[in-house]
Amino acid sequence: MTKILAVDDNQEALFALEALLRDAGYEVITAASGTETIAKITAENPDLVLLDVVMPRPDGYEVTAQVKADPVLRYIPIVLLTSKDSLDDVIHGLEQGADDYIKKPFRKEELLARVHAVLRTRQLYQELRDSNRLRSELQQRLSEKYNYANIVGRSAKMKALFETLEKVKDAEVPVLVSGESGTGKELVATALHYSSRRREKSLVVQNCSAFNENLLESELFGHVKGAFSGALKDKQGLFEIADGGTFFLDELGEMSLALQARLLRVLEDGSFIPVGATHPKKVDVRIVAATNRNLKEMVSKGTFREDLFYRLNVVPIELPPLRERREDIPHLVEHFLALVNSKRGSAKVFSPEALEALCDYGWPGNIRELRNEIERATLLSSADCIGAEALSPQILSAKALGAAGSAGTLGAAVQDLEKKMLLSTLTRLAWNKSEAARELGISRSSLIAKVQAFGLEQGSKS
Ligand SMILES: Nc1ncnc2c1ncn2[C@@H]1O[C@H](COP(=O)(O)OP(=O)(O)OP(=O)(O)O)[C@@H](O)[C@H]1O
Ligand SMILES: [Mg+2]
Repeated sequence: MTKILAVDDNQEALFALEALLRDAGYEVITAASGTETIAKITAENPDLVLLDVVMPRPDGYEVTAQVKADPVLRYIPIVLLTSKDSLDDVIHGLEQGADDYIKKPFRKEELLARVHAVLRTRQLYQELRDSNRLRSELQQRLSEKYNYANIVGRSAKMKALFETLEKVKDAEVPVLVSGESGTGKELVATALHYSSRRREKSLVVQNCSAFNENLLESELFGHVKGAFSGALKDKQGLFEIADGGTFFLDELGEMSLALQARLLRVLEDGSFIPVGATHPKKVDVRIVAATNRNLKEMVSKGTFREDLFYRLNVVPIELPPLRERREDIPHLVEHFLALVNSKRGSAKVFSPEALEALCDYGWPGNIRELRNEIERATLLSSADCIGAEALSPQILSAKALGAAGSAGTLGAAVQDLEKKMLLSTLTRLAWNKSEAARELGISRSSLIAKVQAFGLEQGSKS
């Protein structure tokens, strides 16, 4: 029920006002002074305030100014009851932020009509505010989840990736995303969809290794009733569901040659024939494919269609393994730690040693491995500052090796050792390369290549 706060310091007038409103079907609460008004507005959150102007201080103007200055209360409409007939008073009241005014003495019908109008405006305003809030919340959630801001990376390689994404997001060409496991292929495919013009339509994801060939075929292209035993009715394929949107084909390298041929047709003219159907269907679908296999190599072995490869490879996006963009590791750690903390309401941080170990490790499982490690370590460690001992053993042993060498990964440690041995042998043998190569058990040309690669020269220090 609509609740109105009626305010007048004149008992009789207040009583009349209360009766009038109550008769009209409103719930009415009353106040007889400015101070009481503020208290009741705060406590009762009325839908509307009918406020007498002339009262001992704080008077109606002052109450209005105070309410309209409050970030929460300001949304409650105030209608001033002014007995003075001067325009100046009305202006002064509206300047304080009052929503409307009524001159005393008023006619019953006039008052109710004004009350009704103000309440209606308020309702429209509230609906607008609610729907705006809802919309921006939804948009926020979607964009937070999927825009590039969620793809962490400040390395040159990732910056180049963002540039490519920005260029191709609305280009109607297929995109082939490749990269080792856990490098973010699905994340990038999703970001592409949600930043493209197609974002309002579906993003359909299908893993090509998940089914046997026949199932995958009917999954992708649909089938008609009776196409095979068990096909009891027509079934829409995923390409149809993705119409107007984006189709993300994950693990494309696992697709059979027969299905590759049918996919090629979709890429060529958007058409396909559902299993058991006689007529083709046409769709408008953008294809984003991902693979962690080397498709080019598969082409040369004959396990992947060359024409399909070139069709898809119009815009190749190569996701670099994490070990090739180590400067991103601290940012990723911070990102995942913040996610974990906000999910669990915790405030955990890594100790400098733990952070160093995370930065030194090789991350063969790339970002997925990093993410899992952070979730694991934050769960296992009860302390707010997570020490290195909470990390997985392989990360710690990489760190121990790193301490022996200079950089961090096993590869780096081995290289460091190699460089030291080369230099010390060459120095001892007065840079006789043939001798040194023999002693080190490698060919002379290989020794020369290594010397060049490490930038060693006579007089170099290890
Ligand atoms: N640059 C990044 N910034 C933030 N999170 C990332 C980034 N890259 C990957 N991730 C996260 O790492 C996890 C693995 O990413 P994703 O599933 O996209 O990898 P993938 O390349 O598809 O792996 P697979 O080949 O194993 O399917 C996901 O949780 C993803 O959100
Ligand atoms: Mg994936």
